[in-house]
Amino acid sequence: MSIKSSKITVIVGAQWGDEGKGKITDFFAGEADYVVRFHGGNNAGHTVIVDGDTYKLHLIPSGVLYDHPISVIGNGVVVDPAALIKEIKYLQDKGVNPNLKVSDRAHVIMPYHIEMDIALTKHQGELAAGSTKRGIAPVYGDKMYRHGIRTIDILEPDIFREKLEKAFAFNQTIIKAFGHSSALDKEKIYEDYLDFGKFLAPYISDISVDLYNAHKDGQSILFEGAQGISLDVDHGIYPHTTSSNTVAGHISSGSGVSFRSVNRIIGVTKAYLSRVGQSPLPTELEDTEAKTLRDKGGEYGTTTGRPRRVGWLDLVQVRQAVRTNGLTEIALTKLDILSGFKKIPVCYAYKVGNKTIREIPASLSEFRKSKPLYKELEGWGDLTPDMIEKGFNALPRTLQYYVKYIEDQVDCKITIISMGPQRHETIIR
Ligand code: GDP
Ligand code: IMO
Ligand code: MG
Repeated sequence: MSIKSSKITVIVGAQWGDEGKGKITDFFAGEADYVVRFHGGNNAGHTVIVDGDTYKLHLIPSGVLYDHPISVIGNGVVVDPAALIKEIKYLQDKGVNPNLKVSDRAHVIMPYHIEMDIALTKHQGELAAGSTKRGIAPVYGDKMYRHGIRTIDILEPDIFREKLEKAFAFNQTIIKAFGHSSALDKEKIYEDYLDFGKFLAPYISDISVDLYNAHKDGQSILFEGAQGISLDVDHGIYPHTTSSNTVAGHISSGSGVSFRSVNRIIGVTKAYLSRVGQSPLPTELEDTEAKTLRDKGGEYGTTTGRPRRVGWLDLVQVRQAVRTNGLTEIALTKLDILSGFKKIPVCYAYKVGNKTIREIPASLSEFRKSKPLYKELEGWGDLTPDMIEKGFNALPRTLQYYVKYIEDQVDCKITIISMGPQRHETIIR
């Protein structure tokens, strides 16, 4: 089913983020009328390469590189207005003028959220997730405390003043209680954010109504997830997660579009895994093995430049992604990076003491003790451009077997194979 006839398609991460969601979203976005982000913020970093040009996106959906689709930032996204304005200008400098709409209900990241993020990470120590320090947990915290500031508020000076007084006092008190000095100037924040509001005003509207009408008119909507299943605040390796729900079902609360008509849910899965930040990582590689894979895969963070931890594919994790997202299919990426490895271990279950488990445990102490059980599969050689043209059956037998093994283990079809970062380096099965 094409994206056009699918009407509502959701693309999510099936691991720890950085699976290649940006590439896969861009691959399909040309067929969509709307491309929508529904959660997370500029903790996300999506790299898209088109005609040899590299674009690094954080808040604006990866459909922005086409003329046609409208890019939407839903209410479930947390927006740092300075970062958004920077991204709009970055794209304009590259000759891309974003056709962008931002929800009037999206919460706004404030400078005190970033200070609070730093204080929290320090306080949480071993239990921290190693945040991107973009203010994500504190802004979602304020949303739940119900003194958050939304994009609509920075267009309304009186309400903004009223809310800022409460939120500023609350955050400053906690930051200082943790022993951090804070030199933030409330009046400067007030003025700066009203200026951001003036810049962003033409983009801000009730996007839920637009999306509802678009859907009724038979237009197609593509949702682009951020992060991945193990970072989901409910289903992930809590507390080493982010602070939003990454699962596909969250499109409804994060954009106001009902899940009733979703046809396709694509889980993007890297052929190995990477992790930026702190948590146990059962299949993690160490030392030179890690360095080889990290350098070959270019595994350095798009957002922070941090070296990503790397490991073998973990099907316990992907199994959970299939179940909790209701994946209709998987897009398997970065198969080219595994070329040349003689043996490719794939984790199909964990050993915890003398128990074998096939699902991610809720218990952090069990997860810390989880040891991967591997099936060793045969590797493959170089993947050549003619294989992309000829399709799946032209791929090395060992790679075809690798794909089938994953499908059997997680009970989900792999319909999209990505063999390079560029839009055309993709096989549809
Ligand atoms: P996202 O956060 O899920 O969008 O992923 P990122 O963009 O942060 O990281 C994925 C990286 O892998 C980017 O640099 C992509 O350009 C690159 N990439 C995506 N798919 C492929 C692929 O199939 N092969 C290779 N070699 N690189 C890929
Ligand atoms: P994309 O969309 C990889 C990780 C951070 C940290 C944890 C919490 O590019 O896949 P936060 O700043 O959200 O409070 O950090 O989540 N993290 C990501 N890791 N890719 C991302 O996004 C991530 N967004 C957050 O490293 O461990
Ligand atoms: Mg990323």
